[in-house]
Order: sequence, then structure tokens, then C-alpha cells
Amino acid sequence: MKIAVVGTGYVGLVTGTCLAETGNEVICVDCDAAKIAMLCKGRVPIYEPGLAELVTRNVSAGRLNFTTDLAAAASRLLFLAIGTPSLPDGTGDLSALWSVIAEVAPLLKPESIVVLKSTVPVGTNAAVTARLEQLTGFRCQVANNPEFLKEGAAIEDFMKPDRVVIGARRDEVFDVLGELYQPYLRTDKPLLCMSPESAEMTKYAANAMLATKISFINEMANLCQATGADINQVRRGIGHDSRIGFAFLFPGAGYGGSCFPKDVRALAATARAHGLRPQILDAVHEVNVRQKMVVFDKICRHFRGDLSGRTIAVWGLAFKPGTDDIREAPALVLIDALAARGVSLRVHDPEALQNVRRQYGSRLVYCTQQYEALQGADALAVMTEWKHFVHPDFRRVRQLLRQPVIFDGRNLYSLRQMRQSGFTYYSIGRPDVLPEKPHG
Ligand SMILES: NC(=O)c1ccc[n+]([C@@H]2O[C@H](COP(=O)([O-])OP(=O)(O)OC[C@H]3O[C@@H](n4cnc5c(N)ncnc54)[C@H](O)[C@@H]3O)[C@@H](O)[C@H]2O)c1
Repeated sequence: MKIAVVGTGYVGLVTGTCLAETGNEVICVDCDAAKIAMLCKGRVPIYEPGLAELVTRNVSAGRLNFTTDLAAAASRLLFLAIGTPSLPDGTGDLSALWSVIAEVAPLLKPESIVVLKSTVPVGTNAAVTARLEQLTGFRCQVANNPEFLKEGAAIEDFMKPDRVVIGARRDEVFDVLGELYQPYLRTDKPLLCMSPESAEMTKYAANAMLATKISFINEMANLCQATGADINQVRRGIGHDSRIGFAFLFPGAGYGGSCFPKDVRALAATARAHGLRPQILDAVHEVNVRQKMVVFDKICRHFRGDLSGRTIAVWGLAFKPGTDDIREAPALVLIDALAARGVSLRVHDPEALQNVRRQYGSRLVYCTQQYEALQGADALAVMTEWKHFVHPDFRRVRQLLRQPVIFDGRNLYSLRQMRQSGFTYYSIGRPDVLPEKPHG
């Protein structure tokens, strides 16, 4: 099939590339000229495992092309993967989407299908259908096809989804999209056909559920800390219950990224707009905002509030491992809070340094090597669970830090190991490891 994908960000680029991989002819369009120029030169502007190889292969095969020219997007299937960020009140900002709708209208024919891949509030599909009818003079086919990929595993998730959700009103749309997705559903995973409203709601409900699990386990972790229990043991205790399971029950320094924070707030805003009180959603958000300060609070307590002139090393800046995405990353909340108290920061991340540098400029010391960040620091804070942080050379860590103190926002290390290696160690929802004699 000939397909256009408008919006070549995390979702659009992965969607376009994976659709080209199964033989479709795909054109990816974006208004960001620098991004498109990079892609045309064979460079991928984001870090996503496996993506660069897949882009190169499909560009070489002539199936994948990039342009800033929306007119080139005229094709039967038009996917829209435009960003839908939050407005200050939590509602989704659809202004970019609406401007794209106006721009694509002249390209549409009665047989075209506009597929909304962006996460959009319930009712958007119907509103887009009405707007396109005004602009084109005919009833356009609009479908909702929410994306469930996880950054860091986006290719795998797109190629082998747990399910594909299509929201539409006409059987023909289900048939065309069903055929498109058939190669990705070969392991008997379902294509779920539903109303556009249900599809729109499904995406928010999925993210809200996952965010709820994270805020729940974080609240339990804080309770464990207060009562002397260990959240790792409790996690195992509940996770083996088949009604509960282990997925998304990792305590940490809060969830970030471009989706969970914005989607939880947007869904709460939808509830309010319908006169409902979103009690759970509000609590999930509040717990998360609070949780993002947990590591900062521990650092303050350890240094008895005296932070000025200190240096802290931070390992991990991306909101999760496997990506360079720093949107709403817990590490940035920690960095802002520490910087505001006069702390110098030496930061390391294997992929996200450039994005952080773009935001913070000369205010931080950027270290391409994890051990370089420790040089002369008063303590280490671990904020993203990149694999190479899991088994560091603790002797080297001890030597480089001024004092052997670790604040672990991801519970990477065992309490026994920390005790044996002589570290003062603070983690999430587990007892602190304190030295018998104070350091230094
Ligand atoms: N990132 C994720 O993990 C993820 C997962 C599932 C769903 N989503 C949803 O998918 C949507 C896109 O998210 P993303 O992370 O890919 O966003 P993104 O910011 O990475 O990409 C959006 C792209 O749209 C482009 N754009 C904006 N206005 C445009 C215009 N007028 N014409 C052409 N291009 C334009 C931007 O330049 C950008 O490249 C959002 O609604 C998001 O909630 C994201």
C-alpha cells in the first residue's frame, strides 16, 4: 500500500519505518526541516534500539522516504502522528493536529482514510470527521488507531503488538487496516475493531492503568520505608499472586516520559469536563509528582539540609532506559531541585546527554563516561536503570566519590552488597544502609 505518515517523531518514525519493512511504500512528512534533512542524509534523530538499521534498510530499498512537503503525502492511507502535549490545565493541546487537518484536507479523495495515531481525547475522531467534511465537501473516512509502543522497545512492540485497536464506523476501514496490520498479528494476537470513541478511550485507560500501578507501588514503597518493611520482598509477595502479577510494579523515582503524565492529566480533565470527579486519576498524578522529589528529600536529609557547595553525580537522565527521551524525566526534577539549592551537578547518560545539554547548557558538567561523573562528587544518584549501571566496579565508585554515598532511585543494588562494600545507601522503600561510624 502507499502510505503517508505525517509527524515523524517517536511514533511517526517507528510507524512509518515498520510499515515500510513489510513492503509498503511509505512517505514520512514533518514540518521540522532539520529533522527531515537528517533523515534524508541517513541519520536518525532519536535513539531507539534497532531503528537506525531498519530506516537504512528501507530507505535503500526505496520503500521509505522523508519530506517536509505535505503535498507529497497524497495517498490512500494517511497516518497522523502529531504531538498532543498538555495545556496548563491538563487538557490536550490539539492545535498542531488541527492545523495538519486543514493542510491535508485538499489532498483527500473520497476513498482516502485518515488514521489518527496520536493520542486524542474522546470525541476527536468525530470532530475531525465533521471538520474534514466542511473542508472537503464529502464524508471522509477517519479512523482511530492508538499506538501502544514503549520507547526503548518500540520496534519490537510495533512488530509484535499485544493487540491492534481500530476505531472506525465503516467495515471497509476495518478491512483496509486489518489487511495492513495482518503481517504484525501472525501470532494470533487480536485486531480489535470498535467505535472511535472506545478506541480513543482505550488508549487513555491503558496508560492510566499502567500509571496507577506505578503510583500504587510507589505509595507502598514509601509505606514500607516508614514501617521498616522492604518493598522488594513485598513486591515478590504480591507479584506471585496470579491476580496481581509483576508487570509495572517496580518502585522508583516516579514515572516520566511524554505519555503517562500527560495522558493521566488529560483523562482527568475529560472526566471533569463531564462533571465527574476523577479521584483515582488525580491521586495517581499527585503521588507521582511527590515521588519525583523522593530522591531529593533523601539527599537533603543525608546532608542535614546543607547542600550549598556540594557536588552530586547523576547516572541516568532519560526517563527510562533504551531511549534518549528526557520529557518529564524524574532525573530533571532532581537536577532542578539540587541546582536551586546551589549544588554542582556532574551528569552521565549513554544516550540523552545531548538532549539535556540542549536544555541546560553550561549549567551542568556532562560526562560521556559513567565513572568520570563521580570524580570529586559528594554522592551518586542513580535515576535511570540503564543496564551498565547494574554491575558497576564498586571499588572504583568508592575511590572516585568523596564519600561512599549512593542514592538509588531505581533499586538496582542489593542491601547486602552495599553493606559489604561499605556504602551508605538509600533506595526506594527499603531500609537505609548506614555506616557504623560516620564517613570522613
Ligand atoms: N512517544 C511515545 O512513546 C508514544 C506512544 C504512544 C502514543 N504516543 C502519542 O503519539 C503522538 C506523537 O507522539 P511522539 O512522541 O511521536 O511526539 P513527537 O513530539 O516525538 O513527534 C511529533 C512530530 O510531529 C511533528 N509536527 C508537529 N506539527 C506538525 C505539522 N504541522 N506538520 C508536520 N509535522 C508536524 C513534529 O515536528 C514532531 O516531529 C502523541 O499524541 C503521543 O501521545 C506517543
